[in-house]
This record gives sequence, structure tokens and C-alpha cells, in this order.
Amino acid sequence: MTAVIAIDGPAGSGKSSTARAVAAHLGMAHLDSGGLYRAFTLAALDRGVPLDRGARIAALARELPVRLVLGDGGFFPEVAGVDVSEAVRRPDVTAHVSAVSALSEVRVAANDILRDAASLHPLGVVMDGRDIGTVVFPDAGLKVYLTAAPEERARRRILQEGRAVTADALAAEAERLVARDAADAGRSIAPLHQAGDAVPLDTTRMTLSEQVQAITALARNAFPHLDIA
Ligand code: DC
Repeated sequence: MTAVIAIDGPAGSGKSSTARAVAAHLGMAHLDSGGLYRAFTLAALDRGVPLDRGARIAALARELPVRLVLGDGGFFPEVAGVDVSEAVRRPDVTAHVSAVSALSEVRVAANDILRDAASLHPLGVVMDGRDIGTVVFPDAGLKVYLTAAPEERARRRILQEGRAVTADALAAEAERLVARDAADAGRSIAPLHQAGDAVPLDTTRMTLSEQVQAITALARNAFPHLDIA
């Protein structure tokens, strides 16, 4: 059975960079499930499918198709054969992805793609998202729930996007993140919340390498057969 490390948490908590680094350290594949929801959103936006029509978006995703492809370090999203890793970061995608990801037909389609992708990797996947430990892989060998203070999450997001960290930019970004968290945590299907058996990790004052070390130590205990250094 493929080993699964589930890393969930709110927007900007450092999930993707941490998951990518942990996967590289352990020789596993990284899978950013948010990128898949973004690919569904991108496909619907660019093909003019109304963003509240879950069945039509899921059908479009099957036709095009929307896929996850295993590359060098991990999985990346593809729409109709095109790598959309960059395009899914577009601001219009970010603005609409919470609404699209709240549609039940979209979630069912996404979960199938996520589970199929994970089964492809011989060693295992480090998958980050909102419901990986609660819904997609409730039996994951290790579940981590990452959090960080909103101001710190806003700062990281601004730096990641190469913008200047000003007081105004911080306040606006923190507001956007908190609104997206509220939408993700308040939806009726697979809301963002910590699984009962997830290990909480507050990264507000942690560096990336401290986060990787902490999760690697947890993985060593969770997967003794993998002989993790
Ligand atoms: O991590 P991100 O910002 O790229 O995620 C984009 C959106 O996708 C996020 O607002 C909620 C949704 N999402 C989800 O509902 N379930 C997941 N497992 C991952 C992301």
C-alpha cells in the first residue's frame, strides 16, 4: 500500500512548500490537491461554464481532461494536455476556487483523481489540502494539521508572489485569507477542520527547514518500515 502523508490546513499556512520539501526529503511525490481544484476552476472560467454548475464542470473536466501528471518532484495539474501549474495561480482562479471546490460533483471527481494519482507512486505521496486527512485518505499513515497566524500567512503569500510587504498589502492579504478560510471551513461538504488523529503544527515562528524536520521526525515513527534517515 502506498504511504500517504496528509498535510491539511488553512490558506497560506505553508502546506505546499512544506509538503514539497518533505516529499523531496523522503523520496516521495508531492501532490498539491488545491492545484487540482484550481485546474477545475481554470477550465470552467476559460471555457465559459457557469461556476455554480458542479455537474457541468465535472463533465468538462472529464472531457478535456483535467488530470494530475507525475513529473520529476511530484504531480502537476494539466488541462487538455497543457501544464497549468502557473495558470492556476491567476487571481481570477484564486477568487473563485473556494466556490467551485464547494460543489459536490466537483469534489467527487477531484477525490477520484487524487486517489488514483496516489496509487501510482511506488513509495508514497505527501498530499496537502483541506480534507486529505478527514475525507480523501482517512486512513493516511500520518496526518499533520498546519496553522499559522493570519498576518504571517499573509506575509508569506505576498513574498511568494514577489510583491512588496507593506502594511496595506499585509492587511488586504490577511483579509482575503481569512475570508477564504471562512468559506472553506463553513461549507457543508468536506469543510476545513483538523482530523481527530492529526498532529497540529503551528508554523508561525518556524522556518521551512524546522517544519520539514518536525514532519520527518513524525514520519519516521509513523512509517518505521521505510527506514527514514
Ligand atoms: O491550497 P489552495 O489555496 O491552492 O487551495 C485552493 C482552494 O481549493 C481552497 O480555497 C479550497 C480548495 N481545496 C479544497 O476544498 N480541498 C482540498 N483538499 C484542497 C483545496
